[in-house]
Amino acid sequence: MSVTDEIKSRIDIVAYVQRHVPELKKAGRNHKACCPFHNEKTPSFVVNPERGTWHCFGACSEGGDLFTFAQKMHGWDFKEALRELAAEAGVQLRPQTPEQKTQNDRLDRLRGLVKTAAELFQGRLHSGAADSVAAYLREARGLRDDTIEDFQLGYAPESWDWLLKSLRGLGYGDDDIVEVGLAVRNERGRVYDRFRNRLMIPIRDERGRAVGFGGRALASEDSAKYINSPQSAVFDKSRLLFGLDMARRAIRESGTAVIVEGYMDVIQAHQAGYFNVAAQMGTAMTEKQIRLIAPRYARKIVLALDADEAGQNAARRSLDVARQALADDFAGRLSVDLRILQMPEGKDPDDLLRKSPARWESMVDDAQAVADFVIGMETESLSPGASLQERQSIALALLPILLASENNLYQQDNIQKLSRRLRISERELLSWAAENAPSRRPARRAAPPDAPPDDMPPPEYWPEEFAEMPGGAEGGSGADEGQAGGAGGRHQRAIEPYCMSLLLKNPNLLYLANRKLRELAGDDVDLLNGPLSELGVDDFSRGQYRTLMAHLLESMSQDDQEPLEYLASVIDEELRIEFEALLLDTPATVSRLLRRNFEVDLNEIFGARQFPAGLWQAERDELISRALQLRLSRLENERLEMQYLQEEAQTGGEQDPRQNDRLNVKILLSMRAKARLNRAVGRHAYSTRQASIS
Ligand code: UTP
Ligand code: MN
Repeated sequence: MSVTDEIKSRIDIVAYVQRHVPELKKAGRNHKACCPFHNEKTPSFVVNPERGTWHCFGACSEGGDLFTFAQKMHGWDFKEALRELAAEAGVQLRPQTPEQKTQNDRLDRLRGLVKTAAELFQGRLHSGAADSVAAYLREARGLRDDTIEDFQLGYAPESWDWLLKSLRGLGYGDDDIVEVGLAVRNERGRVYDRFRNRLMIPIRDERGRAVGFGGRALASEDSAKYINSPQSAVFDKSRLLFGLDMARRAIRESGTAVIVEGYMDVIQAHQAGYFNVAAQMGTAMTEKQIRLIAPRYARKIVLALDADEAGQNAARRSLDVARQALADDFAGRLSVDLRILQMPEGKDPDDLLRKSPARWESMVDDAQAVADFVIGMETESLSPGASLQERQSIALALLPILLASENNLYQQDNIQKLSRRLRISERELLSWAAENAPSRRPARRAAPPDAPPDDMPPPEYWPEEFAEMPGGAEGGSGADEGQAGGAGGRHQRAIEPYCMSLLLKNPNLLYLANRKLRELAGDDVDLLNGPLSELGVDDFSRGQYRTLMAHLLESMSQDDQEPLEYLASVIDEELRIEFEALLLDTPATVSRLLRRNFEVDLNEIFGARQFPAGLWQAERDELISRALQLRLSRLENERLEMQYLQEEAQTGGEQDPRQNDRLNVKILLSMRAKARLNRAVGRHAYSTRQASIS
């Protein structure tokens, strides 16, 4: 049993989910509740204890296993989930490899170094040698001593080597000091302090560990107002929010996070008693940063965007950020209530909080929903007598953004608002949107029409565990597996590793399978965007395969490395075991080769297994049909759950005709897709044969 299976066998998924979703209730074979990942009134979140899976049939349309639930709930990546759940289950993870140990020790050492530097800067600020800086903080910036202390503010003196000498004296080496960006090494090899005569603001990660610095200029002739630590093994600005370590409790308690732009804004807000404030440090808010907050701490995020000197510029900039957020749809996907707080002209939160702290609260409360903000801004300058042409051009600019999200609950509201604002009917707006929408999603990269035969080992080389695949080497039909959820689960568990193995061994199969899916969908856009969409993460339910699939997709959308090479370089140590096992039937021998980071030609691994060219087409069709079976299996699982939800709603007398209609449409669509898939996989059709009759 793999480590993940071991963990899953020890942690009851129902009990685990229940801890986070207390209203989860048993209903028939399953358990259900309102989905914790989006807002809804009628439960469409289902946990299936037999299969150990969960699925949201509402706006999220997402599901997975214990690991994916924990990841989504806590904002963990797979590695963190593995560590946390292993600890909870009392399962011993594989002991660190010597390389891992070396790596972890190195990170600890580097963080220790940053922490020490923070203490040195702090000590220097209070040494008496920096009285003018302390006075600047108190008087010019209005900070109290306890605030200066809480944020561990410090001072880097005007010197090329004050920090270097201090750190060397404590036993730190130049390489490490340069690595974390506290010193710079020039072309001639000279090493010197990066931060000189600057106010030092330590940047801590969410767990409160100092990982970098923002250094504010004190002399007016310094060109950059702030110098920040460069990206390093311990510092990744796009994944950090300044002040989150101190803000997260208040964010959880208030259900709202306020994100400001600058260090000083955070410091001032905390001093004024508004503790739910953190900063994005000048960059545009990233999805990673949103994920630091939602859904685990809060769902409401207020972006407080500076107004700089020129008032309109600021509005323009806010608009860009807001539009970006809508277009990227991270708010929709994470079901975040994203709001925009525009600061009054010429002010940033720091100024405002110092002059009129009481106003802050009402401004945060009055922040506008992001779509309202965008609609408002775009239509602001519209005169009452604006021509249809003018109004239409605004509509055409806004519609794609407002409709970008597939699962935005407010989409309809937004169209309604736009309709009222522009005096154009909703129906008209939607038909314009449809006319102007790109008809098909472009393929990421088309497979060359005459691709040479791929390195696909014949069935006798497939890992033993796949030998009993339905319709596989042993020829079992598996037709008896279609009964209930339990059997489907067993089946799905078998087909997932099998298909993942196929995909890893031949990433090109993804194109072939997607091409087939497109072909099957024909010009039915609903099928194309729904049950016959490209293979993706959701075709797998197990956390580690979902992660592998995500990496595989990434690997296909980059051109720098061979997909396998790319995968080998990005996957976590923990996933590597799984990766190797899936990739090769003899993991032990080749894992050695993999460790050497693909210095070997992959042909050395697969090359010996060429088989007669005449077999290729048949072989290929066979593989494509396996990939389609993966989709069939997913649709079958989803259909069972939807059917169940529907029955449940009928017997339970719950009346939500809209939800019911949605389910009906989904079920019909899914049945149509399955009929086509079944036809395509021909003799390999298995459990779904019965399903498509019902
Ligand atoms: P601001 O220019 O608004 O700075 O940049 P601020 O925080 O209000 O600082 P004060 O009040 O002038 O002292 C906002 C944020 O953008 C980043 C910093 O994180 C800053 O807090 N920034 C700004 C830089 O990284 N580098 C810069 O040169 C300027
Ligand atoms: Mn400022």
